[in-house]
Amino acid sequence: MTAFVIEPAKKPLLGYAEVPGDKSISHRSLLFGALCQEPVRVRGLGAGGDNRGTARALRAMGVDIRTEDGAGGEPETVVTGVGLRGLKAPEAAIDCGNSGTTMRLLCGLLAPQPFAVTLTGDESLTGRPMRRVVGPLSEMGARITGATGAKPDDIYPPLHIDAPDGPLAAIDYRLPMASAQVKSAVLLAGLYADGLTRVTEPGATRDHTERMLGHMGAPIAVRGGGVIELDTRGWDGALRSDPIEVPADPSQAAFVLAAALMAGVERVTVARVCLNPTRTGFLDALAEMNVLVEREGMRLGGAEPVADLSVSRGVGDHLNATEIGGELSVRSIDELPILAVVAARAAGVTHIRDAAELRVKESDRIAATCGLLRALGCEVEERPDGFSIEGVPERRFTPARVHAGGDHRIAMAAAVAGLAASGPVRVDGAECVATSFPSFIEVMNRLGADMRAVED
Ligand code: S3P
Repeated sequence: MTAFVIEPAKKPLLGYAEVPGDKSISHRSLLFGALCQEPVRVRGLGAGGDNRGTARALRAMGVDIRTEDGAGGEPETVVTGVGLRGLKAPEAAIDCGNSGTTMRLLCGLLAPQPFAVTLTGDESLTGRPMRRVVGPLSEMGARITGATGAKPDDIYPPLHIDAPDGPLAAIDYRLPMASAQVKSAVLLAGLYADGLTRVTEPGATRDHTERMLGHMGAPIAVRGGGVIELDTRGWDGALRSDPIEVPADPSQAAFVLAAALMAGVERVTVARVCLNPTRTGFLDALAEMNVLVEREGMRLGGAEPVADLSVSRGVGDHLNATEIGGELSVRSIDELPILAVVAARAAGVTHIRDAAELRVKESDRIAATCGLLRALGCEVEERPDGFSIEGVPERRFTPARVHAGGDHRIAMAAAVAGLAASGPVRVDGAECVATSFPSFIEVMNRLGADMRAVED
């Protein structure tokens, strides 16, 4: 077990930070690269355990994935795919670890295959609801069974996927919740259905699947009103294997920017961050809170917009409370725990609503965030779909010993809060940070923070 010990910041942060490649885009680079016939070169792949889990799963099905020196000596991942119909049955159950994206996207990819496979995961993942993917895939003809769990009408891992009786049928599916994982699972299965698969979203979720499949030449079209269509009629199943550049993860950049607000900042820059509009909710919420994040060198990196993000001296001096709800909650869903920490030092009460999905993430993130803030001495009110935080400008958090509860984003939110505490903060169970941001402590310390990992 690893604990992080964070000392209160003694000086403003300064420097240039590189955070891991975007986790969502990395999963998709590996999964879609596996379906190409020619090798795909991927630059900047995320280094966390979740992405490595997806690579391990694909290797078990015959996909060659290796790291090579690319142009300029930078490592590149080469995914040598097997085409749409070349995956082999794995010899054992596939362990998706902590990664919901790995499991849910693999469900879509494996449901149409002519072999059986079992998907399992760690304690957190086996407690997460899977009917949301099993439902639509079953409508397409998939044969997936699972275990019982917390909610009697849901389905939980391990999931057993049997070969379907014949080709899957295309469907017209309206998502009951805003979930990019469910959307992507249906579209992946749709690649194997002969017909028009249509997915309608209740609100825009991250669209990396649509962008990347479009870039690879799949017959996918994004219509207005949240409608995505994949029409495989007459398609030969070939995907183009152009190189992929994975930009830095805005969800990890959020922790660096928040650290600058907690510790004070001279100037901090986070390099080449993905600024896909479905992922910029954190920046929009910060703007509402009176935080100016500069965006420089905006460009298109492959299928995604990218820019360097900087904050400078004085940036967090007058934080205002804000309201986060509706589409902004969806666009900042993974950043809400760290936004809550920032809000705890803003003038006024910040309300976070329409975020019930947080209850079924790597932990119940509404309960976990409220528990964290209370341990740090803050007033919070918990509701079924969110919470409210009483902000106190310039407050020093109460030194505390907290537990990450198996959730990487809770661990990092706690560590960042520690920079603004009046004494050391200890985060137990911090090994989970490696699922998304293995270099978290090094990145923070290079900017001037004092964080250390201790084993116990
Ligand atoms: C992800 C989608 C989101 C997000 C998760 C990654 C993806 O989950 O919270 O971290 O890569 O598609 P949902 O699909 O459950 O909203």
